Amino acid sequence: MNRKAIIGGTGVYDVMEGATTQSIVTAYGDVSYDLVKIGDTEVIFLARHGKEHNLPPHKINYRANMMALKMLEVDEIMAICAVGSMNDAYEPGDIVVINDFMDFTKNRIQTFFDGDTERVAHVEMTDPYCNRLRGMLVDGFEAHALNCKGNAVYVCTEGPRFETAAEIRMYRQLGGDVVGMTNIPESVLAKELGICYAAVGVITNWCTGIEGKAIAGHQITASMNQNKEKLTRLFLELLSRTETAQSCKCQQSLIIV
Ligand code: HPA
Repeated sequence: MNRKAIIGGTGVYDVMEGATTQSIVTAYGDVSYDLVKIGDTEVIFLARHGKEHNLPPHKINYRANMMALKMLEVDEIMAICAVGSMNDAYEPGDIVVINDFMDFTKNRIQTFFDGDTERVAHVEMTDPYCNRLRGMLVDGFEAHALNCKGNAVYVCTEGPRFETAAEIRMYRQLGGDVVGMTNIPESVLAKELGICYAAVGVITNWCTGIEGKAIAGHQITASMNQNKEKLTRLFLELLSRTETAQSCKCQQSLIIV
């Protein structure tokens, strides 16, 4: 059985026939998820903020989530992340493919290799996101009437507060395009586990200080709702394809020294 996962996509599986809610116990905590069967593929839906959207970014149990997917033998993950934009070319309502990141989180466990293994492990970051999945996404956007504006460098902040205008000026000067609070360590842990992972950023607002207006909660929800269902349907179509040829190096990212 092929197993794939969608992180952050909601509003689709709950209306799909045969969706079941299940849970799994990991060494890092318990994880509950929804599962939908499409032909020979089982697609797992993980709500990273919890189904009630009650977990703030710094309290998400990233290691439990990613270990659960590994234990379920998931080999491909597509994720949706809400982001603010500090790049004039990417407006609220747009979507972008995340192709690199800068990590400004402060207080998160970033690794499964925390000194309790025999040797020291590092994860290679030439391609932080799976090139093969990113290519599949780009090909799929048009067919699903999704206008992807391009690639983006994702800046991950600790949150839960938004950034100051001075911080955004700094991130912009450093080369960041979008800012969010959840993609790190999620993408890094996927890489440590050798799981192919790609993420799409949904631009929900201009970052602090870009337009001089305060960020509004309703704006974030509206932009997410506008894109989330179409994106989830695209992910489902791509992930339930049966091709198995692996042309990426995601399974060889771990370096033991
Ligand atoms: N900053 C950080 N995280 C976010 C934002 C933002 O402006 N918008 C959505 N998630």
